[in-house]
Amino acid sequence: MKALRRVLQSFVVLSFAVVAAASLAQEKKPFEPVVGQSGKDVVWVPTPAATVEKMLDLAKVTPQDFVMDLGSGDGRNIIAAAKRGAHGKGVEWNENMVELSQRLAREAGVADKAEFVQGDMYAADISKANVMAMFLLTENLDKLMPKFLDLKPGSRIVINGFGITGWTPDVTERANGDCGSWCTVHLFHVPAKVDGTWQMPGGQLTLKQSFQKVTGTLATGGNSTPIEGSLKGDEITFTAGNATYTGRVNGTAMSGDVKGGPGGKWSATKK
Ligand SMILES: C[S@@+](CC[C@H](N)C(=O)[O-])C[C@H]1O[C@@H](n2cnc3c(N)ncnc32)[C@H](O)[C@@H]1O
Repeated sequence: MKALRRVLQSFVVLSFAVVAAASLAQEKKPFEPVVGQSGKDVVWVPTPAATVEKMLDLAKVTPQDFVMDLGSGDGRNIIAAAKRGAHGKGVEWNENMVELSQRLAREAGVADKAEFVQGDMYAADISKANVMAMFLLTENLDKLMPKFLDLKPGSRIVINGFGITGWTPDVTERANGDCGSWCTVHLFHVPAKVDGTWQMPGGQLTLKQSFQKVTGTLATGGNSTPIEGSLKGDEITFTAGNATYTGRVNGTAMSGDVKGGPGGKWSATKK
């Protein structure tokens, strides 16, 4: 009887040990992301490596840049930017993906430059970024667009595949090499905010802005001339009649040169 009890006891102990070892092994199994796995507002599909490089090329990423990715997945955009010497931060909803990107950054030797945090991209503070590198749907990008327009003028936004409603990309190019269905990259420069009325020494400039495009009127000496132009970051160009105005916007002031028409220099102050 005693012998039978001892056998049973050792069987129970052994069974516990086997179960404990199995669950430990299961716990240790590294997380493997699956293409198409659900995300909070968009599923995970990785940007192909060739397209990541094209995005960073178009944005002309240098060690002086601070790059952010919203919905950073396994962290590849930020890790690639960090390999170019930039600092960056990825915001990702899925905790497992955050841990994976942190591990991949360590393995790539760029953990000091590439930070990954768990969070909702819609609540993320992106004000430190001067480059955004992302792969999101137009519906996500449209919701984020006001944040993008609040970035410092001249900040670059590069996006894999999708566009932002109403905002024409400044450049669209295709990646070379093995990029499957995701080869197209759009580049946008955040324009300075110029919408409104500006006082010029000899007249009044009224501008209506839609992203990087400007229309409006230049009123001088009782004449009102329609104007049309564009912005690339803080650089503004517009034509009024046969005159072309080029200049730089600095908050509530802008100034530059006039070619044709009256010629010379021009300046304006926001009213
Ligand atoms: C299409 S993947 C892009 C991944 C990565 N940026 C790339 O280029 O490879 C989109 C990512 O956004 C994440 N995501 C979805 N909704 C999110 C949200 N509200 N906040 C943060 N991340 C989100 C998903 O988990 C997924 O990893």
